[in-house]
Amino acid sequence: MKLSPVLRVLPSALLLVGAYCTPVNHYAKRQSSITDFIESEASVSINGVLANIGSDGTQAPGAAPGIVVASPSMSDPDYFFTWIRDAALTYKALIERFIDGESSLQQLINDYVSSQAYLQTVPNPSGGPDTGGLGEAKFYVNMTAFLGSWGRPQRDGPALRATALSLYANWLISNGQETLAAESVWPVIAKDLAYVVRYWNQTGFDLWEEVNGSSFFTLSAQHRALVEGAALAAKIGQMCDGCSDAAPQILCFLESFWTGSYIDSNINVNDGRTGKDANSVLSSIHTFDPAAACTDATFQPCSSRALANLKEVTDSFRSIYGINNGIPQGQAVAVGRYAEDVYFGGNPWYLTTLAVAEQLYDAIYQWDQQGSITIDSVSLPFFQDLLPSITTGTYTPTQSLICPSNDTHTTESPSYATIIDAVRTYADGYIAVVQKYTPTTGALAEQYNRDTGTPLSARDLTWSYAAFLTATERRAGIVGPTWAEPNNNVAPDVCTAPPACNARVTFNVRATTTFGENVFVVGQLTQLGNWRPDSAVPLSASQYTSDDPLWFADVEIPASTVFEYKYIRISDSGEVTWESDPNRSFITPEGCGSSATIQDVWR
Ligand SMILES: *[C@@H]1O[C@H](CO)[C@@H](O)[C@H](O)[C@H]1NC(C)=O
Ligand SMILES: *[C@@H]1O[C@H](CO)[C@@H](O)[C@H](O)[C@H]1NC(C)=O
Ligand SMILES: *[C@@H]1O[C@H](CO)[C@@H](O)[C@H](O)[C@H]1NC(C)=O
Ligand SMILES: *[C@@H]1O[C@H](CO)[C@@H](O)[C@H](O)[C@H]1NC(C)=O
Ligand SMILES: *[C@@H]1O[C@H](CO)[C@@H](O)[C@H](O)[C@H]1NC(C)=O
Repeated sequence: MKLSPVLRVLPSALLLVGAYCTPVNHYAKRQSSITDFIESEASVSINGVLANIGSDGTQAPGAAPGIVVASPSMSDPDYFFTWIRDAALTYKALIERFIDGESSLQQLINDYVSSQAYLQTVPNPSGGPDTGGLGEAKFYVNMTAFLGSWGRPQRDGPALRATALSLYANWLISNGQETLAAESVWPVIAKDLAYVVRYWNQTGFDLWEEVNGSSFFTLSAQHRALVEGAALAAKIGQMCDGCSDAAPQILCFLESFWTGSYIDSNINVNDGRTGKDANSVLSSIHTFDPAAACTDATFQPCSSRALANLKEVTDSFRSIYGINNGIPQGQAVAVGRYAEDVYFGGNPWYLTTLAVAEQLYDAIYQWDQQGSITIDSVSLPFFQDLLPSITTGTYTPTQSLICPSNDTHTTESPSYATIIDAVRTYADGYIAVVQKYTPTTGALAEQYNRDTGTPLSARDLTWSYAAFLTATERRAGIVGPTWAEPNNNVAPDVCTAPPACNARVTFNVRATTTFGENVFVVGQLTQLGNWRPDSAVPLSASQYTSDDPLWFADVEIPASTVFEYKYIRISDSGEVTWESDPNRSFITPEGCGSSATIQDVWR
């Protein structure tokens, strides 16, 4: 995967003329002030990641082998948990390093496989192993369930984990260890993919754990995971049930997040935000395919859509943070999650600032691979920030040959190299912002203060370190394998939702009522009125007798779903009486068309 920078920037057409002209090597000639920082911070970062992984990590006491602790911080905030998302993104970075030759990481990767296989079996408030439990966001580091209230489910975790593990499984297969891939890694991936196939068309909480809706990050991770999973399954003679049907449908749905000028990161929810959110930038870098063209449909890093979006997202932070004050358009700024953020006062984060740099390095990689940059009306504003006189058109590197004593080969203006140069300088600027607000120890917390730049919130955030590693590897031209985006980037013309997979639940409650009173069931699901008495489901008294005061109703509820509910009485004057606490809870059976009966007594 490590290609020589010189070869990498020379498409074949250029090599021919290169025999008698000197191509501009925009990689070699550049020595910026950030290179020393990158070298020292990369070493702090890999050590920072490893310190937070059990069981040997020095900052991860009590963590099981292969368990990634989000941060050693145990209070204000308490991040001493393992998040499925953070762990998967961290291991994706580690597995890429392993594939690139860091063979000492294999034990830790095998530990990850085992730990995740176990976590998939742990019942938790999102459900059991086959009833939605894979959507649980975080566990204690000793791999027990966290029972407190939380934004759940979060449906990106299984997809991101499947992607990390697919990278590893593919490496095993290419290296004569197909049995290990098929017997120990695939079963974990298969459960994650089955979860994605079953739940992708349901709402859940976004990666920031705040918004319950449809998240661009979640869906783009799901699309990639299913594409990779289907290919992996085929390689080892396994089934990936539903993967090939769901993947194009997810891609189809993803198109609806595009507003025409940026990605609205959360839809199917009324969250009162613009939707300009680093969610979308992270999506672009985690679905980056080094073999892809600048595909708009998959929002590849160099696509017009993703670049226009990058501008909109970064611009949304220019005026709101004190530390960005006075920095003109086209120069790097501190980047947070989204402008309306109030968590810890709403600050820039290291990992989101680094993600912007990473998207730009990815884009440069893709342009160099395909040997051209196409600027259209969608991406023009992005490029104009960097090069005000630039116009739409296609720019190729043949323009950037330097033939000092013979310019018969320089047929057009020298723009390709100028554009690459400008984008790279811009990207490096984001690394420089991180450098400016990183303490001399190199420690990366979660956030840095919007007005002073002082590190804030959780210290030594694993994801911050992993983000530093991946951004700077991309800068050096080191990329992971393709996930076959080129064969999976066309969305169907018409989107179809998967057929509903419901179970019929019969609610029976014995409740002695007075004349004029009616009984309803209300609860956590849309089908149960989302806890709103005016949307509650009425029960029937058609079999009510004084000996058996039965109220009942049949309700279609998605199969394999955990929910809470209560009964309420509503008098003829509209007065609502709730059952006493606690809430009741139930898990619908597996299988479309299945049924279940609940027998309750009013309390
Ligand atoms: C796991 O860790 C949690 C949180 O520290 C603790 O409350 C719980 O008792 C531990 N469980 C086991 C089985 O060690
Ligand atoms: C389900 O898919 C359909 C078709 O793409 C889409 O319109 C709808 O918003 C999706 N709903 C959720 C919750 O994903
Ligand atoms: C100029 O280009 C021609 C090919 O068109 C080549 O034959 C010649 O050697 C070149 N001269 C120099 C000085 O590079
Ligand atoms: C999330 O939103 C959906 C409706 O879009 C609702 O059915 C579900 O109960 C909500 N979940 C939570 C935990 O609020
Ligand atoms: C019951 O559920 C509602 C809605 O989620 C919640 O506000 C309430 O606190 C729950 N009650 C108990 C006792 O957990």
